[in-house]
Formats: sequence, structure tokens, C-alpha cells
Amino acid sequence: MGAAGYLINERKIYNPQFDKEIIDILDDFDSPFLYHSTLAEYEPSPVIELTTLAKKLGLGKILIKDEGQRFGTSAVKILGASYAVKKIFGSGSDKKGICTATDGNHGRAIAWTAKKNKLRAVVFVPDHTSQSRIKFIEDEGATVIVSSGNYDQAVDEAKKYAEKSNFLLIQDTAWGSYLKTPSYITAGYYTQLYELSEQLDRLRNPRIDAVFIQSGVGSWPSAVVHYIRRNLRSDRIKIICVEPIESDCIYESIKMSHVATTSKSQKTIMAGLNCGTTSVLAYEIMKNGVDAFMVISDLYAIDAIKYLNAPLPGDPYIAAGESGSAGLAGLLALMENHTLIELKHHLGLNEESNILLFNTENVTDPYLHDEIMSGKYYHSGE
Ligand SMILES: Cc1ncc(COP(=O)(O)O)c(C=O)c1O
Repeated sequence: MGAAGYLINERKIYNPQFDKEIIDILDDFDSPFLYHSTLAEYEPSPVIELTTLAKKLGLGKILIKDEGQRFGTSAVKILGASYAVKKIFGSGSDKKGICTATDGNHGRAIAWTAKKNKLRAVVFVPDHTSQSRIKFIEDEGATVIVSSGNYDQAVDEAKKYAEKSNFLLIQDTAWGSYLKTPSYITAGYYTQLYELSEQLDRLRNPRIDAVFIQSGVGSWPSAVVHYIRRNLRSDRIKIICVEPIESDCIYESIKMSHVATTSKSQKTIMAGLNCGTTSVLAYEIMKNGVDAFMVISDLYAIDAIKYLNAPLPGDPYIAAGESGSAGLAGLLALMENHTLIELKHHLGLNEESNILLFNTENVTDPYLHDEIMSGKYYHSGE
């Protein structure tokens, strides 16, 4: 059994406080879909049901919105990057190109978007980034610069590079007055939720009781939270944020009641979630909209990867990477780890509960993935 921890958040009225310009971007729930659906590569991502796993875990339904094929970039991040570039660069600019920092997926999305719009792209990655993730970004035509430190350091270097070289920074995290671009990125993710409403309709509208959202800096999960609480106006759906135990900036921020940086090792296989500091935008949304904040060890991610990529009899195959599987990893921890029993009761999960998960990425590190699937990956324990 892996290690896990949690904080229960007694939610009050959902009313995040932002300037009007930011609220207008975040409350525009239809424009991202209207834009994405005009792209030649557009196809809605599927919703898949895992019936056998739901039965095994003692739940009603498990539904997964699978973003692994989105625009051929293997991750949900393309929705945010493409929408933000469209909104910010759309009517022309004197900038030489676009620049960002990434743990992998956002950078690949920026590279894809730059190529499509005939822009130059420079992408900074943390020093521990795997060669396969770097290659995926380079294959889209971007220049990759390996930072001298972790994710936060890479963001800092991208920021300085953009200023010095007259590039536009398209970063998926917010700080100080840098809010507008990350707001467009967050809004861009609404497309998957927009699609979901119609897909659930076709599945005869199963009642969704709980949603598990994996978090790095918090921009992607904030889109889910804001869409559910503000657009669907649902207070009833429980939302659970899931982070690696060794990279827990949101958990730490909620504990401290202010935006914080993780004090943990930042050693985790969930590379996309391995971010040091919470986005200020995400903090304001998550602190008001999320019911519980969980941290889980890599062992749960490994189990989740196996359930998706080598499914139980009767369940369909889903190609999912380490961070993509993390929402399911949180659910597994909750249902299997007896130290979380109070949280399970608080959330009211039982054999009638219907769960919504998101696979946010395909296999993005094939070497690590093969090691995990073949049982060769050595995990140093808790
Ligand atoms: C696959 C995947 N899922 C989830 C996330 C979390 O997104 P965010 O950093 O916006 O919280 C990321 C971040 O890069 C990711 O790559």
C-alpha cells in the first residue's frame, strides 16, 4: 500500500475574487469550444466507462474523459495553449516568437501551436526532463533549452529569455500581475467540459457525484472547478484535487492559507504534476471550489497506470501516462488506504457513487512506461 494524506476543505460560497478583465475571460464558457471546433484537427475526446474496475472498488460508475489523442499532441494541455495563443497573438504582434517553460506537455502544446501559426518557439525544461519528452517538443520544431534547475527555475529562465529576446511568454501559471495569459490558458481547457455535457446527455445523464482532478500548478484543474461551480452551478458534485506527495504545492498552499512552494523532494514519476509553486489564479479558484486536497505516493500512480493500460476483463484499454493516470491514482488511494477512511465518509462515496476522471495524457515517456508495465521499474518505497 502506498502513502497518502489529505485535507478536507469546508467550502463556502464559490466566489473567487479577480479583476473584471480576468473574470470576463474565465466566465466566457463557450468561446474556447467555438474556437477549437474550427480547427482541422478537432474531434471531441471520448468518454469511456470502466465497469469492472468500478465494481472491484465498490463504486457505481467510473467514467473517464480521455484526452490522450487530443490534436495528436497526447495531452489536454493543447486546449489551453492553442486558445491563449489565438487570443493573445491573434491580431498580430511585433514579437519574434513564443516562449514558455514546461514539464513536458504544455511545452509540446506550445511547440505544436507555434508550428501551426508559423511562429518560432523556445521551450525551457527542468534539468531532470527525460530525453523522450524533450524529443517530442523538438519534433514539433521548437528549440528546447534545458534549465539549470527545477520547474520554477525553468519558468524564471523563460521569463527572462522572453524579455531579453522580444518573445511573448505563454506560461500556464500566474503570479503578481501575470494573470491574463494563464486565464486564457485555463479557459481553453473548458472545451473538454463543453463536450462532456453533450456526451453525458447521450449516456442518459448519469448523476456525477465526485470528480478527481490531478494538479501541477493548478491551471488545468481550476478550469474543471470553475466550470462546475460557476457554469454548471453545481454545489453538490464533490471535487477532489490530487497531487504527488513529493510535489504538493496546492496542498501546502491550502494548509498555509496562501500561495506556497512545496518543501518536498520533487522526486516523482508524475512529471507533469511536478511543479514547485502554485499559480495565484489557481489558488483563488481551488480554495473556494474544491472539497478535498489529496497527496499520494508514486505507488498509486503505478497501480493506476496498470489499470488503464492493462485493464481488467471487460474494461477498455486506455493509453495513459504517469500524470494522466493520477486522478485514478487518487481514487485508488481513497478506496484502498484505510488511513483515508474519514475522507471517504466525508465525501460519501459508496456503491452508488458515480465518479468522473480525466486521463490528461497519453504515454509521454515510453521508456519509463515500458519499465512500469513490465514490472522492471524500481521504486524506492515510501
Ligand atoms: C498530463 C497532465 N495532467 C495534469 C496537469 C496539471 O496541470 P496544471 O499544471 O495546470 O495543474 C499537467 C501539467 O502539465 C499535465 O501535464
